[in-house]
Amino acid sequence: MSQDAKSAAGRVLVLNGPNLNLLGSREPAIYGRETLADVEALCRDAAAAHGLEADCRQTAHEGVLIDAIHEARSAHRGIVINPGAYSHTSVAIRDALAAAYLPVVEVHLSNIHRRESFRHHSHVSAVADAVICGAGSHGYALALTHLAQLVNKEAR
Ligand code: DQA
Repeated sequence: MSQDAKSAAGRVLVLNGPNLNLLGSREPAIYGRETLADVEALCRDAAAAHGLEADCRQTAHEGVLIDAIHEARSAHRGIVINPGAYSHTSVAIRDALAAAYLPVVEVHLSNIHRRESFRHHSHVSAVADAVICGAGSHGYALALTHLAQLVNKEAR
């Protein structure tokens, strides 16, 4: 297998939704001091430790997130997603993930269950294989470790 084909075979999508570009300066007491660039570097390292390549994207736009999930159907082996506030509002993102037929791990930096009641329900959780919240940026490393296990199980 060529190097290109090898990396395509092990590519996973890491999607971050609205306001997560502000990490580091956005409510640091809740979301921590690490920037999105720090989180994405951590994701690439965690993926690489499991022989995977993390394709990291962030957007504030619901439709762009949905387009990326559609693209993942043929371009990626699994998805780690922090949909931000869309977790609590977007049936469309939930439906896109359900139609992707890929392993999905949902991540939240904060413990959404310890916060305002409108954050307690996530539409995405029902279609995620696992949900990690409240572990800060380390949650992304946990998510990628678990995603790698799911991806490798499917490959067997
Ligand atoms: C978040 C939690 C959401 O409620 C919030 O809207 C976010 C970030 C988290 O990572 O803790 O934007 O998904």
